[in-house]
Amino acid sequence: MQSVLSSASLGHPALHKLDRYRKGHLQQAQNRAQREYQQKLADSSSNDPQLQVNWFQSMKYAFEEMDDVFKLVNAPDGFHFLDVGCCPGGFSSYILERNLKTLGTGLSLEVSKGGHDFLLEEQYRHRYELVWGDITSYQLGNVPLPGRTPFPPIHPSTFALVLLDGHPLRTSVSDGSTTKNPQTDQPVHIIGDCLLISQLIIGLTTVAQGGTVIIKLSRPERLISAQLMWLFDSLAADIRTWKPVCIHATRGTFYLIARGMGFGVNAVMYDGVLQGLKALWEELILSQRRLRDNDLDFIIEKAVLQGPYSGRLTALSAHIWEVQEAAWKGWRQQVKNGF
Ligand SMILES: C[S@@+](CC[C@H](N)C(=O)[O-])C[C@H]1O[C@@H](n2cnc3c(N)ncnc32)[C@H](O)[C@@H]1O
Repeated sequence: MQSVLSSASLGHPALHKLDRYRKGHLQQAQNRAQREYQQKLADSSSNDPQLQVNWFQSMKYAFEEMDDVFKLVNAPDGFHFLDVGCCPGGFSSYILERNLKTLGTGLSLEVSKGGHDFLLEEQYRHRYELVWGDITSYQLGNVPLPGRTPFPPIHPSTFALVLLDGHPLRTSVSDGSTTKNPQTDQPVHIIGDCLLISQLIIGLTTVAQGGTVIIKLSRPERLISAQLMWLFDSLAADIRTWKPVCIHATRGTFYLIARGMGFGVNAVMYDGVLQGLKALWEELILSQRRLRDNDLDFIIEKAVLQGPYSGRLTALSAHIWEVQEAAWKGWRQQVKNGF
């Protein structure tokens, strides 16, 4: 279990309520049932064509929500974007449709390894290159490790927009204590942590100076998420957060939008952080372990997040907690009423 910051230091009523929901026994059972239901739906969509189409459409709506607010795709001369964990392709489809001068590259896990199908409409495919592969298997460290695949031939610092939305697959087999990916037999949380660090390395390496990174994170009060929010706040000229209401509203996941990468107040950290992440990636690969609480302390320590940074963190997170709390309230009401 990875640690969370104390809700007292963040002090927001919606977070306190979410904490209470999580602690309640009854709620735990409801949370679990609800989470399992949503996970099953997401996972089974990899087999059911109609669910896949629905999910693809939901991803398009989710990106549209973000674009309505942050104007992410307006560029008269177009731009290149990289979409990591791109399948089924809703985000990419939205961008290619809205800006006819954009060119995209997508990276996604092969369907034969449990990844999702690629549903991008035919009319956009000539502006898109899809590279199938497991991004955690690429050579992403400071030193080469045996048995790794070379990173695809993508030039560093070239993409004006990089999307990091890869998500571990839970097409799960439970051995009673852990949920494992049947393809790799690895516990899903270990894969998820490695996927997160791999995506960060890819994102920081491929985004152009001044470009935008959008990354999916989970629960801003989690130490690791808060450390990454602080990181992007330091490296980028501007960061915002967005919790789509059209997907997973009851879940803690949200998107962080970092614009003006390389122009933040502490952008001088950029290369050092990248090196630190690569070293951590090597450690995760070699030891096949989960992220530990102090793994990202080389970026920023918990005391700063709970102290001087807590006001900023709360300001960035308040609407995420509020959306999640409102969605939970709706779910509880539905449970009360019986479905
Ligand atoms: C939440 S979905 C992304 C949805 C996408 N943003 C869209 O708009 O359609 C997560 C994606 O990550 C992919 N994925 C999971 N593990 C991966 C890995 N190790 N390497 C590459 N892609 C991976 C999954 O196959 C899935 O397509």
